[in-house]
Amino acid sequence: MEFVRQLLVFLHLLGMAMMIGMFFVQLRTAKEGPLNKGWLHGAGLQLVTGFALYLLAPLTHQTYDHAKIGVKITVLVAIMVLTVLFVNKDRFPKWLPMALVGLTVLNVGIAVFWA
Ligand code: HEM
Repeated sequence: MEFVRQLLVFLHLLGMAMMIGMFFVQLRTAKEGPLNKGWLHGAGLQLVTGFALYLLAPLTHQTYDHAKIGVKITVLVAIMVLTVLFVNKDRFPKWLPMALVGLTVLNVGIAVFWA
């Protein structure tokens, strides 16, 4: 079971890297729109792997702080709502990539510093 947890953490970190990378891709390829679908894929991967890690905790012998997970889900939902709102539009507001990457970095901070 430890391998499953490691695999999920591995994918969870790749999902995070994808979202950070998407910020730079967005600025280089489509500064004003459309929004790259990679944001949605990265966020989806975070949701699936994060939930799997959380739900498998009794089997992987981990104890996770429920409040911390709740805050991380809330931040991720904000990311997903913003992404879904603009992903099918030709243009998006200037602040959007900065807001999405800022929320992603916020979740990294919560993951690491919330003991
Ligand atoms: C943008 C969204 C997210 C980002 C950037 C993110 C980032 C991270 C990072 C960097 C870690 C590794 C921390 C460490 O090992 O010290 C981590 C671990 C974890 N995350 Fe997330 N996360 C996100 C969303 C979520 C969500 C939505 C959930 C739950 C539904 C979740 C559940 C977890 C769990 C349970 C761990 C601990 C894994 C372990 O070491 O066993 N994450 N996250």
